[in-house]
Amino acid sequence: MIFTGPADKLPRFLTEVRMRQPLVAGNWKMNGSKSGVAELLAGVKAGAGSIARAEVAVCPPYVFLPMTAAALAGSTVRWGAQNLSTETAGAYTGEVAASMLKDFGCTYVIVGHSERRTLYGEDDAIVARKFAVARAAGLKPILCVGETLEEREQSVTEQVVARQLDAVIEREGVAALADGVIAYEPVWAIGTGRTATPEQAQEVHAFIRARIADRDAAVAAGLRILYGGSMNAGNAAELLAKPDIDGGLIGGASLKAPDFLAICQAADASL
Ligand code: PGA
Repeated sequence: MIFTGPADKLPRFLTEVRMRQPLVAGNWKMNGSKSGVAELLAGVKAGAGSIARAEVAVCPPYVFLPMTAAALAGSTVRWGAQNLSTETAGAYTGEVAASMLKDFGCTYVIVGHSERRTLYGEDDAIVARKFAVARAAGLKPILCVGETLEEREQSVTEQVVARQLDAVIEREGVAALADGVIAYEPVWAIGTGRTATPEQAQEVHAFIRARIADRDAAVAAGLRILYGGSMNAGNAAELLAKPDIDGGLIGGASLKAPDFLAICQAADASL
């Protein structure tokens, strides 16, 4: 049950226990082959049967979506894409529309990943537009935000994350966030093996939730904020124990079923 009233009217017991279902989503990036993906999907599907409370999702490259849909049919594992077009249809060579992802049974789509922002020049306006088209098609966008190492060293983490968040809020309204998920991914922790400490991550997660609560307390209370950046089987439990960390967006460790499932187990146990 999602309580939609004002947060200060929440029954006391609800404010004392975590009420957000954790989500562990695998971001496979540009990895995989037909045989490797078939094996990984089979492993995730088999292991996910023992995940009782957390939600599990995988985001393979586009070309593997049909086989992902087929392999995961009948399981509780959801799937999504890593990117989508800002446009809805037409002459956009090489692009993939939100409606196509929906057609292939995607639940989620990642928007604003730092690799898209830095390597493909996606600015806040493009990311906000992608969030909007995903939502309009009935997909749940996973909006990635996070600072670079340089920005952290300059102590502007909060300003950067606020700017990335506000671009979506200003375009779509704060209530739109309830249709998606946020992923806090410090750029310096992605693929580097250098994870944010649970305290560092919690601090930014709490900042994000507070900033949203200033505009809408109920949206903030229900919103899932995932951590991403070198999360693995060894550090997941500690991160997920923090009150504002509601799951993970997993890159490298999502490419091996046992490693990914161990993180899902940690999320399950975090409730
Ligand atoms: P990583 O990637 O887990 O390999 O650091 C996370 C991500 O980029 O989403």
